[in-house]
Amino acid sequence: METQLDKSTNTVWHHATVSRKRREEKNKHKSVVLWFTGLSGAGKSTLAHAVEEQLFQYGFNTFVLDGDNIRHGLCGDLGFSDVDRRENIRRISETAKLMLEAGVITLTAFISPFRAERAMSRSLMPHGDFIEIHCYCPLSVCEQRDVKGLYKKARKGEIKDFTGISSPYEEPEKPELRLDTSALTLAESVQQVIALLRVRNILSASEISDAL
Ligand code: ADX
Repeated sequence: METQLDKSTNTVWHHATVSRKRREEKNKHKSVVLWFTGLSGAGKSTLAHAVEEQLFQYGFNTFVLDGDNIRHGLCGDLGFSDVDRRENIRRISETAKLMLEAGVITLTAFISPFRAERAMSRSLMPHGDFIEIHCYCPLSVCEQRDVKGLYKKARKGEIKDFTGISSPYEEPEKPELRLDTSALTLAESVQQVIALLRVRNILSASEISDAL
């Protein structure tokens, strides 16, 4: 599927009077995109939802964009060829950018296997607003977990272009955070993400204690 991004001619950009800055002031926290990447079964969705739960309990505005869910709707027309995966990530990235403007802490959980697409996504956001979190888990462990039974099917050739088996996963070279989900507990991983947000001044200690 080839997308043409130059078709929207004769359109004018409208500037909102309600800016991201004003939304952040009202929300009493900054917005950011937390981009979780990793193999299927590495724990991206589980971790994204657990981090969201924690932030939501602090009273922050949050939303998870989740691979399997988005592929039922916004990206329901896309498969798993390289071209379709690129388009998948482009749409998600544009959506995440809108949510950033809307003042929301947005957590995305997609395999997003290609470095170039993750770099593209990063480049769409203002500097520092894209936080790449690599959910590292050895392929052998993902395959052993095989929560959805997809690795088994992929090995049998029933699913083609399966990440890690018949389609590549390009590991992040310099993610903001790398978590070995085969070694850490879920609670430990959540802690590390929250700690990173504090170090990067996205959440201040006072915001958290005010929220508690
Ligand atoms: S991505 O590569 O385009 O980022 P995405 O995260 O949206 O992938 O979807 C991955 C999910 O789709 C997997 O967790 C799995 O449940 C399902 N899936 C179905 N077919 C494939 C495939 N060929 N490769 C990887 N995941 C697949």
